[in-house]
Amino acid sequence: MFMARIIAIANQKGGVGKTTTAINLSAALVAYKKRVLLVDIDPQGNSTRGVGFDNDMIQISIYHLLMNTKDVKECIYKTQIDNLDLVPATIDLAGADFELATAKDNKHFRLKNQLDKVGNIYDYIIIDCPPSLGLLSTNALVASNGVLIPVQCEYYALEGLVQLLATIRRIQGTFNNKLVIEGVLLTMYDSRTKLANEVAVEVRKFFKERVYNVSIPRNIKLSEAQSKGKPIVNYDKNSTGAKAYSELAKEMLANEKTRK
Ligand SMILES: Nc1ncnc2c1ncn2[C@@H]1O[C@H](COP(=O)(O)OP(=O)(O)OP(=O)(O)O)[C@@H](O)[C@H]1O
Ligand SMILES: [Mg+2]
Repeated sequence: MFMARIIAIANQKGGVGKTTTAINLSAALVAYKKRVLLVDIDPQGNSTRGVGFDNDMIQISIYHLLMNTKDVKECIYKTQIDNLDLVPATIDLAGADFELATAKDNKHFRLKNQLDKVGNIYDYIIIDCPPSLGLLSTNALVASNGVLIPVQCEYYALEGLVQLLATIRRIQGTFNNKLVIEGVLLTMYDSRTKLANEVAVEVRKFFKERVYNVSIPRNIKLSEAQSKGKPIVNYDKNSTGAKAYSELAKEMLANEKTRK
């Protein structure tokens, strides 16, 4: 049976572009005729708001999915964009890490077991992780085929990546031997600054061909779109940010072809 490719967007460092990437990669894949489910597993709910949902529009969320009190199908919302669906997160999720930690059964597999039930109706499932390596991120990595790591072109960009890679390796060795590093994405890249170029060289030296050829430029339109609750393609499709995320989707689709 056909199964969606499931990709976690993860980096426990805050503010590196996980959510921006989750939203805009999802919408860019839709523009390439893919059916996409965006899953918000961050209590901040930024992806949820970024595709136009306010807290008061959401009764059932990923919290219920993880607690197994609702079926995944009850947690899926249609967005204003055809072929882009959402499993939203609200602040309720803040307590979930603790509740999962003390749960007896299947605490690492809650998300996987639920997503497996809808894997046949999407081409891609994109999971926006929180800036931590707790049970929420673990659930995302256990459920995924690949992990996409955004790295911000700033000081200390590589800091914390050692722990992230150790976590990925631990999950590969225990719960999910199918997990691969889908790719490393340079974000908020400003080619005019020496620092950004130095960081890009360092990251490419470390991750080699796993770094995407495309990097995401710093583009104010990306944060404007997010605050308006729209993916960039639906806000300003001619912006450099929109073009970069479209290139990323294209590169990802091409990589998938060569992987098969
Ligand atoms: N390429 C970019 N150009 C300009 N602004 C950006 C870009 N990428 C992200 N931003 C802005 O930077 C901020 C942090 O980005 P984002 O929310 O995507 O990071 P995050 O890794 O999801 O953060 P958190 O760890 O808190 O979940 C946001 O205000 C976002 O709009
Ligand atoms: Mg985020």
